[in-house]
Amino acid sequence: MPTASDILAMMASGNPEQVRAGKRALAELERTSPDDPMVIAHSCHLAVCEDRSDDAMRWLAKIDASQVDPFFHTLSVLGGLRRVASFLRRAGAERDGGTIAALLGLCHQSIYQRDWTATEPWPLDNSRLSRPVGDHMPRASHDLARRISETGQGMGDATPIAGGEVPWADGTVLFNLVAQLRPRRILEIGFAKGLSTLFMLSAWDGVESHTVVDPLQWSAYRFNGVKNVTAAGHGDKLRLIQLPSSLAMPTLLADGESFDLIFIDGSHCFEHTILEALYADLLAEWHTVVAFHDYHMEPVFAAIEFMRLNRGWAGLVAADVAILRRDRAKPNLQNDYVPFSTARPKT
Ligand SMILES: C[S@@+](CC[C@H](N)C(=O)[O-])C[C@H]1O[C@@H](n2cnc3c(N)ncnc32)[C@H](O)[C@@H]1O
Repeated sequence: MPTASDILAMMASGNPEQVRAGKRALAELERTSPDDPMVIAHSCHLAVCEDRSDDAMRWLAKIDASQVDPFFHTLSVLGGLRRVASFLRRAGAERDGGTIAALLGLCHQSIYQRDWTATEPWPLDNSRLSRPVGDHMPRASHDLARRISETGQGMGDATPIAGGEVPWADGTVLFNLVAQLRPRRILEIGFAKGLSTLFMLSAWDGVESHTVVDPLQWSAYRFNGVKNVTAAGHGDKLRLIQLPSSLAMPTLLADGESFDLIFIDGSHCFEHTILEALYADLLAEWHTVVAFHDYHMEPVFAAIEFMRLNRGWAGLVAADVAILRRDRAKPNLQNDYVPFSTARPKT
């Protein structure tokens, strides 16, 4: 008879046959060990995934304070923390003030404290990140990208703000990054005229959704980003959120979302960049890669140093793009704080 730990491995395997066997074994454990916190976590997660709200609530109501750690550990391994948090929020937990509200708080606390060490090899061939896009980029996207790059203008009306888009060398890195990583869900902070988006979306057809966050898309950019990305044939993948990152990113987190690739090219002020980095950490799955544009800028450097030393992120710099993933366990408890330099060492 498989134990709850065996079921955990079966459910997390992603193999459909294993998942089916896991579900059968879980039904048996629900009968024999209904108070085991690992069983509760599995059953609650499954109920949330299958939209069985009453069942999910019934399992959640069984958790007592002594079961909190194994319950949230299991949920974390299943990748279900955000999903259950979002379910609790939709169920009105924030206003509840009792145990259900406490579980929502603990879900988010567990997302923050998630502690993992990358076991997969580094996912990129670093030597090919600057490979010229040349013929690999569809002709129409290539021509449009060139036009934006050279004239600061794409398909739409003239914008009050000229320039600011990624230089071609950095766009090339983004193109190769997406071509190699093949992310399904991309989050981009700072959209402007959509040049970086064009590089990313023309690298691989399998992107399912590309969320862009920019409070100035209408006012300063006259919807040029949307027009350009739509003209290149990617409009159906685009979701525009016209809010500053400091509001949009916590909302995405509260809604239970996560991303495979996050690209940050927003205001570049330290206070925004560090918030964007911290929320990227919370919106990341174990395989997620986070890229920052303008690594040469001091505030960007400082925010990345914090993430490197205090949140276990590591990676490399290609052109002016820093590419990182969480690769070391880092609980980030108060006593582990590592002072970080906010100034780039002089060479
Ligand atoms: C350097 S541009 C982005 C260029 C774009 N990535 C490209 O290469 O085409 C910076 C963008 O960040 C946006 N921005 C400024 N403050 C922001 C904030 N707090 N949150 C999100 N975006 C912000 C600006 O409106 C601007 O469009």
